Amino acid sequence: MASGPDENGRERIVQASKSADEAEITAGEQALEERAADLTSQSDESEVAGTKDLRPRRFQEYVGQRAVVDSISIAVMASNKRGDTLDHALFHGPPGLGKTTIAHIIARELDSMLVHTSGPALERPADVVGLLSNLKTGDVLFIDEIHRLSHAVEEYLYSAMEDFRVDFMTGSGAFAKSINLPLQPFTLIGSTTRAGMLSAPLRERFGLAYHLDFYSTEELAQVVTRSAGILEVDINDDGAHEIARRSRGTPRISNRLLRRVRDFAEVRNSGTIDSAVAAEAMEIEGVDALGLDRLDRLYLTTLSKNYQGGPAGIHALAATINEDQQTLEDVVEPFLLKIGFIVRTTQGRRTTPEGFEHIGHPPPQTEGPTNQGTLL
Ligand SMILES: Nc1ncnc2c1ncn2[C@@H]1O[C@H](COP(=O)(O)OP(=O)(O)OP(=O)(O)O)[C@@H](O)[C@H]1O
Ligand SMILES: [Mg+2]
Repeated sequence: MASGPDENGRERIVQASKSADEAEITAGEQALEERAADLTSQSDESEVAGTKDLRPRRFQEYVGQRAVVDSISIAVMASNKRGDTLDHALFHGPPGLGKTTIAHIIARELDSMLVHTSGPALERPADVVGLLSNLKTGDVLFIDEIHRLSHAVEEYLYSAMEDFRVDFMTGSGAFAKSINLPLQPFTLIGSTTRAGMLSAPLRERFGLAYHLDFYSTEELAQVVTRSAGILEVDINDDGAHEIARRSRGTPRISNRLLRRVRDFAEVRNSGTIDSAVAAEAMEIEGVDALGLDRLDRLYLTTLSKNYQGGPAGIHALAATINEDQQTLEDVVEPFLLKIGFIVRTTQGRRTTPEGFEHIGHPPPQTEGPTNQGTLL
């Protein structure tokens, strides 16, 4: 099967479910098929059928992350030139920064098939053995949320990545048999928001590893302008910059805000979107001038008022806010840390003077010449 745009103009991607007759390990394959729905739901929410695809398709269209793009595109070109498979690559960084997007671009630039799965979907070793044995030479296996692989599954990946083979047992008791299955050379691309949760043996097997960082306002303005072109939204440069400034350094948020601003402008009949229209629309959405949304501000006010600026543990904060701890750690904290509104200390999270200032709450008075609340 070759990859190429289907009738909807979307690139065909093999989800981690193949027809049963191809299956060498039927049970594993069946399990995969059952979970195909879960897998597809992992794809970008904002780009479901019926809406236009905003994902860049080539390296040239991918805005920002220059150092990463330069390095990975050289690796891709070299492997194309030599005609061998690309080294395994790992992408880590906060959600919505383009990890999945770049994996798809790599597969396209390699002219390879991309098989898309995720850590939680590969529950049992049979799942991963089934997937691996179906890979053809040069295929790209993309594992999203790779930090959520079970330990047992992860162990199968070690030999698969290093030597392109898997060893597994069939039968039990006296009928137990060890099978050594050679694999076609493939490229594994892993994506994670939690590089720290990856085991060392797995991390070491990636020849290429990249951290994606938050985007600059200028870069996000380019993302907004590009997306506006695709969506046929009339926006001027100031309008694009206003959305960019409020996007928390994240292209996914830029695209989401652009859609909200477009709705607002259509309802108001405002014509070209300028910074005033964009700002008003985003205020209604609860997105403030720095891009903090309701959850960010709730986190900041809880830490600053209920806990007097900390230190507070993430468990306590999550319980007080009544929000999932992982959401706070993955989605809320990285940006607040980045803009210096909170710090993470061994005792817990603290609000910085800038954080207090933003929510208009005075920092608690401390005795002594130094304010340990911000220095620890
Ligand atoms: N460099 C970029 N240039 C233009 N648009 C981008 C870029 N990176 C991401 N986007 C847009 O942002 C959206 C989110 O990106 P993507 O799904 O790749 O993020 P992710 O890092 O995989 O997030 P998650 O950790 O939640 O899986 C994409 O659908 C794409 O439209
Ligand atoms: Mg992703």
